[in-house]
Amino acid sequence: MNTGTRPAGNPIDKSPTWLALRKHRDAIKRSSLEQLFHSQPGRGANFSASGGPVYLNYSKNLVSEETLQLLVELADSAELTRAIEDLFNGQPVNNTERRAALHTALRGSATRDESIGRFVSQTLERMAAFSRGLRDGSITSSTGKPFKTLVNIGIGGSDLGPRLAINAFPDLDKEGLTIHFAANIDSGDLQQTLQSCTPETTLFMVSSKSFSTLETLHNAQAARRWLSDAGVAQACQHHHFAIATANPEAAQKWGASADRIFPLGEWVGGRYSLWSAIGLPVMAGLGETAFTALLNGAREMDNHFREAPFASNLPVVHGLLAIWQRNFLGYHSQAVLPYIHGLALLPCYLQQLVMESLGKSVRRDGTALDIDTGAVVWGEEGTNGQHSFHQLLLQGTETVPVDFIITQSPHCEIDAHRHLVANCLAQSRALMQGRSRDQAFRELLDKGFSQAVAKNLALHQVVTGNRPSNTLILDDLSPRSLGALLAFYEHSVYVQSTIWDINPFDQWGVELGKNLSREIYDALNATGKNQATAMIGDKATDALLERLLPSHPKKN
Ligand code: F6P
Repeated sequence: MNTGTRPAGNPIDKSPTWLALRKHRDAIKRSSLEQLFHSQPGRGANFSASGGPVYLNYSKNLVSEETLQLLVELADSAELTRAIEDLFNGQPVNNTERRAALHTALRGSATRDESIGRFVSQTLERMAAFSRGLRDGSITSSTGKPFKTLVNIGIGGSDLGPRLAINAFPDLDKEGLTIHFAANIDSGDLQQTLQSCTPETTLFMVSSKSFSTLETLHNAQAARRWLSDAGVAQACQHHHFAIATANPEAAQKWGASADRIFPLGEWVGGRYSLWSAIGLPVMAGLGETAFTALLNGAREMDNHFREAPFASNLPVVHGLLAIWQRNFLGYHSQAVLPYIHGLALLPCYLQQLVMESLGKSVRRDGTALDIDTGAVVWGEEGTNGQHSFHQLLLQGTETVPVDFIITQSPHCEIDAHRHLVANCLAQSRALMQGRSRDQAFRELLDKGFSQAVAKNLALHQVVTGNRPSNTLILDDLSPRSLGALLAFYEHSVYVQSTIWDINPFDQWGVELGKNLSREIYDALNATGKNQATAMIGDKATDALLERLLPSHPKKN
């Protein structure tokens, strides 16, 4: 059994290649992006790679051929080839939970375990039949009416992927079925969603791998109350629920009908589960063809990841550049800026994918890391971000590497698309070229400012430049391209985790907050302030409870 754990005493940051990269960093930092372009005229085209519908141009990074060669050597010393095969072959790469991470099998990428392949195709067939029934109206509500709305109740990986995909394609045929999402335990979320729904024609999709997530179960109960209030008898409510879960027993106990429970394997991580039964709202909303295209796009990227040489392998190059930026150039965060309104939720999706996967401080074997791991990921759709935080990207004291994303063939009205392309390219150009004091001074003089004013104002208009970015160009905005893009990021995360020797498939930190919130919830339900604070006993939380709780508890 290969858990991918590297032999102790062999940390990557003590390897000869790591040390060589450090030396190389000191040398290359003395040059600039502009100088690199000047000395390598073909750089703009050469520093790029393609995989399926995704093109990555990484020429605007402070890297040379030598940097890339050293980074590929680093990947070799981290045994990345073996790690990739372990992932696809279903080895227990999620070593702390002793599980495989077979999201690739969900999109048809071969795995050694035939039973997994059968499980995947059987589940897909059931999902397809159910989606067709919802779309053609043959699957009906408790009163025999076709469903008009599907409300997905789920959070984290059981929400973000389907929400992103549905949001990306508002124009794809929805056959009269509108898809909504409610995630937060804040009752305002579900309430607001339900304002546009009619109980008689609403299906709730309760999506929860564990079927134990507080927010989801709380909202599912609220959905039941909403149905009851509308006169749907409890005995008939199972018609209004479908479930996606890896815990079908709990779902059945909760009252769901077995024929409406869609399983996913324990071997799928929550943030990697869009491709599983968790994607049912996408299939129901966009149709089977679109969902299949999403899977196919992801599979194209899987094949590319598995087969392309590292130097032209999109996720490998992207992941290695992230290592370069984080560990050698010392950047703390990473912005993702899709100039595509349909991908407005991509930064949100990637926050979970990247930060839950790479927010780790120990290696696979539990030993502490001496180097930084996952960067903070954030972003916003372009051009909106230009009018809020790009100021910091351009003139702030921190350098934030950016992934710009744009489509090749227009995904919106042609002139608007031209503006998007122009702005996208202009931003990465501004980050790279900047504006010198002298340039600013001359521009101000040209505008008619006096020498004295221009001299002073120019100081504020300097943009240092030399700031890195990647440009990702998607063939188009289609389910295939989205599938490939998301798989690209998944695999980039895997590359980074392999270099750092961390497990990207667990999330133990999240459990701590969940446990503490249960304790505090119980304290909030206690009969009085004194009793509540006695239950907690940490001074900081007690002080806040003092402030939050009324002196005399309300009588229920
Ligand atoms: O927040 C932790 C987490 O476990 C995520 O990893 C997961 O996607 C989310 O909660 C929802 O979990 P579930 O699908 O089990 O409800």
